[in-house]
Amino acid sequence: MTIIEFALSKTNTAPKYKQIAELLAEKIESGQLTANDKLPTHRFLADKLGVTVGTVTRAYAEAERKGLVEARVGAGTYVVDKKKVYWAFDQRDNYDPNECNFGFNIPPMFDRSEMLKEAMGNVAQSAQALNQFMIYQKPTGIDSHRQMVASWLNEHGVKLDADRLLFCSGAQHGMQMVFEAFTRAGDTILSEKLTYPGLISLAKQKQLTVKGVEMDEQGVLPAALDAACRQFQVRFIYLTPTLQNPTTATMSLERRKAILEVCKQHNLYVIEDDVNGLLPKDAPPPLVNLAPEQVFHIGAFSKCLAPGLRVGYIQPPSKMHPHLSITLQNHSWMISPLLTALTCELLSSNKLENTLLFIRTEMKERLTLALNYLSDYQLQYTHDCFHVWLTLPDHWRLSDFVNRAAENGVIVKSAELFSPPATNVPPAVRLALSSPIDQAQVETGLIKLKALLDSTPISDFTL
Ligand SMILES: Cc1ncc(COP(=O)(O)O)c(C=O)c1O
Repeated sequence: MTIIEFALSKTNTAPKYKQIAELLAEKIESGQLTANDKLPTHRFLADKLGVTVGTVTRAYAEAERKGLVEARVGAGTYVVDKKKVYWAFDQRDNYDPNECNFGFNIPPMFDRSEMLKEAMGNVAQSAQALNQFMIYQKPTGIDSHRQMVASWLNEHGVKLDADRLLFCSGAQHGMQMVFEAFTRAGDTILSEKLTYPGLISLAKQKQLTVKGVEMDEQGVLPAALDAACRQFQVRFIYLTPTLQNPTTATMSLERRKAILEVCKQHNLYVIEDDVNGLLPKDAPPPLVNLAPEQVFHIGAFSKCLAPGLRVGYIQPPSKMHPHLSITLQNHSWMISPLLTALTCELLSSNKLENTLLFIRTEMKERLTLALNYLSDYQLQYTHDCFHVWLTLPDHWRLSDFVNRAAENGVIVKSAELFSPPATNVPPAVRLALSSPIDQAQVETGLIKLKALLDSTPISDFTL
């Protein structure tokens, strides 16, 4: 138990439990109480302060409501470890500054609780609206929500039409619906040569063959796409034109136009994954702006706000809209209107804008760290991107490097995960700089990776 010196003010007229919660907040703020410190028992503190046990119980409950402390069953009340509560699902339970997980393509950690509380409070203002959220809506959701999201996106350079937009549970779900609605087992689809593992997994489950198309630092090459369209019978290409996962490639406006021209010639629809499209301040226009009838545009608020929100959107070409609406209905009838209402509130109150400012600043600092440590190596990067793409020097074999990094407490993702079946795997790894808990962990990871890259591995051979 942590011993804390408390003294209640004789002149303060606020209820005692509030005063105690306030004192706890001050002690946590000033660092006298730190993460995982155990608070005194209710009885001990009550005796010390000359208040009832009930008052301390209320004070601890108030501090818990404010997110300062947590009651652990059978163990007592502890100061919340803020770092721990932001973690992704399988990051380890204990923060260890000597370890670094570059594995997840997630926004950098920050405390979203206040923003969420405020937005939820505002959503809950209208009893009529709350009741509306608790009943079935059309599969397309509540009209005003679609209008709000479409108009926000239009203001941010994504030209979507509220009448054609469909909500989905994040970009991955959007992809799944498009494949379900418009492909059949045995079909071939095209993608960038290295692509998002969620696409590879989805294609495998739906028995689709993925053929990767040659790319450079701007993404897929128009001539290579033309050749692939001639070689394979294809109707779809899946592309991430902005901040591509894993290579960071972003297509210039000219490249976008050239790719769309090839698609038009071959009657090829583009599934545009724009999940990262809102991250850069000045990205070129999405493909949907240039050819709305050629493109299924998929976006989400997972990367620029919160992956746990699970709200995304799709705009299909107009003639595909009815079929996609039915697919959504078959999946889940509709996306929860409570979540789309919350999203609208976060958009209209500028919470997303503020989050984006934080993300961009944080990513700039993390990228500077990566460039400091890895400048001697072949690093592909783009500003505002969560990850960088590191090509290994000749003396490292890919699997050895990934394993040795893990043995040293540093998780990186192998190019193998991003390579569609039957393609050559380049000797490269993805480092999601956004994934470690803080910049100290990023730096630890970079120092260890640099030491590994600088060293020559002992060659391993077997008979
Ligand atoms: C390129 C790409 N598309 C889609 C997703 C999935 O996004 P969501 O969480 O919105 O389903 C990710 C997640 O990492 C991604 O990197």
